[in-house]
Amino acid sequence: MKPKTFVKNPINGTKFTIAISSAKGGVGKSTFASNISIALSKLGCKVGLLDADIYGPSLPKLFSINHKPESDGKNLKPILKYEIQCMSIGFLTEEQTPMIWRGPMVTSAIKTFTQKVSWKNLDFIIVDMPPGTGDTQLTFSQEIKMDGVIIVSTPQEIALQDVKRGIKMFDKLGVKIIGLIDNMSYFVGDDNKKYPIFGEGGVKKTAEEFNKEFLGEIPIEPEIGKLGDLGTPIVHSKPENKISKIYLELAKKIKSTYLLN
Ligand SMILES: Nc1ncnc2c1ncn2[C@@H]1O[C@H](COP(=O)(O)OP(=O)(O)OP(=O)(O)O)[C@@H](O)[C@H]1O
Ligand SMILES: [Mg+2]
Repeated sequence: MKPKTFVKNPINGTKFTIAISSAKGGVGKSTFASNISIALSKLGCKVGLLDADIYGPSLPKLFSINHKPESDGKNLKPILKYEIQCMSIGFLTEEQTPMIWRGPMVTSAIKTFTQKVSWKNLDFIIVDMPPGTGDTQLTFSQEIKMDGVIIVSTPQEIALQDVKRGIKMFDKLGVKIIGLIDNMSYFVGDDNKKYPIFGEGGVKKTAEEFNKEFLGEIPIEPEIGKLGDLGTPIVHSKPENKISKIYLELAKKIKSTYLLN
């Protein structure tokens, strides 16, 4: 039998596709994806944000987008917010509609979002992945030219177990892992002491174990949740906050890895 070969297409109108992933749920992927998109845009990059979480889209809430995208009969137009070109299945459905879809339908939704959206002149498209190692990760890795993936994790062993599975999946599928982020790594109390609520050093250790770059820590900051719920991500609404500065530094690193200036 002949081996199956996959043709990897770039996303139209996009130079580089970067996914934000972690096999674990609730570790802050969507929060990271939205804030890093805004940080890259603040550095002068043209950025798209694709919410690839078909069952649990977050982008309508995180960017406070409540209207449907326009269509020219052939393609959907991304919705522009905070200078980011955005697309999410959540723009097309009512807020509380459960997506009861089989795998092939998810794959086809992803094809629509990557092939039938008129993304324009993007330097980067940031793809916010759902939790797990399922159809979405597989479709992107096998059929789309992915330039890198950033793995987000929290430091607990239970999160890291899943994250290790995620790393192995991308390695196996030949997708470059840019590095690992330790999110919610510690809390700074009123006494200015660091409290590593979920444990310490686990993400860095995992990065070393798998020979990946450790990209740094993002502490627990209640403002992140509050501003996310309001649809005004912290890098947009409080660019001077120390968390926003961490995001801007990371964005500089990503930009300089892929673009000349
Ligand atoms: N550094 C942080 N400090 C405090 N809260 C955070 C931080 N990062 C994320 N959160 C909060 O954690 C919750 C989960 O974040 P988010 O939805 O981004 O995770 P996710 O990995 O995308 O989840 P899912 O797997 O369901 O898609 C949100 O309420 C978010 O505001
Ligand atoms: Mg999410």
